[in-house]
Amino acid sequence: MAEEAENSIPVIAIDGPSASGKGTVALLVAKKLGFHYLDSGSLYRLVALAAMRSEVDLDDEKALSGIAADLDVSFADGEIRLGDRNVADDIRAEACSNGASRVAAYPRVRGALLDRQRAFRKRPGLVADGRDMGSMVFPEAMLKVFLTASPEVRAQRRYKQLMGKGINANIATLLQDIRDRDARDTNRSVAPLQLAAGANLLDTTSLDIQQAVDSVLKLYAEACAKSAPKPS
Ligand code: CDP
Repeated sequence: MAEEAENSIPVIAIDGPSASGKGTVALLVAKKLGFHYLDSGSLYRLVALAAMRSEVDLDDEKALSGIAADLDVSFADGEIRLGDRNVADDIRAEACSNGASRVAAYPRVRGALLDRQRAFRKRPGLVADGRDMGSMVFPEAMLKVFLTASPEVRAQRRYKQLMGKGINANIATLLQDIRDRDARDTNRSVAPLQLAAGANLLDTTSLDIQQAVDSVLKLYAEACAKSAPKPS
């Protein structure tokens, strides 16, 4: 697609730390607007899963970037297929969460995933969630939101989510994992987790999912109104 035409496709970039609810919010916003949805974290999780399955060292940047470039992945109807297996649940395991944040620190891995992420930008629009959607992948996004909540509230949300799936969890361990991952994602030199230029900070500590979705939709309506041509 010509670059100019592609740049006219609206992107809503939703970034934020682990368990801030950005995935759920982004998916609901995408559904409401009839937009495509990119869960960029799943790509880092897939790289970690594929590496662990083929016993590739999570410190081997060259091998990891090869895995990222060659990922045979397809997304459809809530399924995430790696080769011919649905790994949508497997990539949510804590081992993959930690592995993802390790592989995501390598510039060559991030570079290998860039075009794959940008290919999700299709009409009528895209909602993309991650850590660097507004800063690196879609810096010209029409709306950038940085969704966050206190670490304690995020640990509780992750706890409920895991228990709901029948997975045993310990809240103190989850809180520690969240703090460790925040530190790793924030302090890395490449594409660190940060408030992108022009991003709107949305603290969801005391908001439920629907309130967070409504806030993003309101910000989007405001962004549309701002970018609409002024009557002469
Ligand atoms: O669901 P949660 O926020 O815990 O994780 P995720 O969004 O699936 O991302 C998993 C890991 O991938 C994060 O801890 C980040 O280190 C990394 N990631 C990234 O570096 N850049 C992105 N755009 C998305 C995820």
